[in-house]
Amino acid sequence: MIDDSVNYDYIIRYIRSVIPESTGFLKELEEFAAENQVPISQPETIKLIEVLIKFGRCEKVLEVGSAIGYSAIRMIGAGAGKVDTIELNHQAAVFAEKNFARAGFSDRIKLFEGDANDILPELAQNKNNKYDMIFIDAAKAQYNSFFEPCFSMLRHGGLLVSDNVLYKGMTATDDLVLHRKRTIVKRLREYIKMLCEHESLETAVLPLGDGVALSIKR
Ligand SMILES: C[S@@+](CC[C@H](N)C(=O)[O-])C[C@H]1O[C@@H](n2cnc3c(N)ncnc32)[C@H](O)[C@@H]1O
Repeated sequence: MIDDSVNYDYIIRYIRSVIPESTGFLKELEEFAAENQVPISQPETIKLIEVLIKFGRCEKVLEVGSAIGYSAIRMIGAGAGKVDTIELNHQAAVFAEKNFARAGFSDRIKLFEGDANDILPELAQNKNNKYDMIFIDAAKAQYNSFFEPCFSMLRHGGLLVSDNVLYKGMTATDDLVLHRKRTIVKRLREYIKMLCEHESLETAVLPLGDGVALSIKR
């Protein structure tokens, strides 16, 4: 299995072969992530997000899980005007801030260091915090608790993108579920069901990357 993807290896190899290779600073970040086992978005997933940002003319984006800032930088590069991003890990947050400065995006990306379970409700208290896109890419077991504040900050017509929801295929079949992962899988199944049945959302689950759920707020 390539990179925790849910797809056939030959499909992933083919899709990646047609995505133009990154150059310059982005390539450097990808190499750094690979060398240091930093989990950044897979090429096909970040490409989807770039297309969605352009298609939806997403101006304000909220990201849960910055890591070293790779996806936030790609989202600004795709045309987002402003990205707010939340990261729990101090070392990752320090790298991310440095990378935003190096990319020349420090004035357009605001990093909130801390637990999204604390930061999201605080952000949601300010009724002016409305986002065109919210990208959830952090601890999978916590997606359910991230949801309510994210939903309240998503504008009508806005897009919620939840990454890794198929979790190496485990969400889709008990045959693949590792014993130590069964709580995460149970929570992801509840999360997908909630997204799909939510009366104010229209959700599509895509077998792309590690599984991506796209939810539009009515
Ligand atoms: C998959 S990485 C994010 C990758 C990034 N979006 C990218 O594509 O470049 C997930 C990140 O979420 C962070 N994280 C996990 N749980 C979190 C939480 N409760 N609050 C904030 N960040 C969290 C982890 O420290 C990790 O850096």
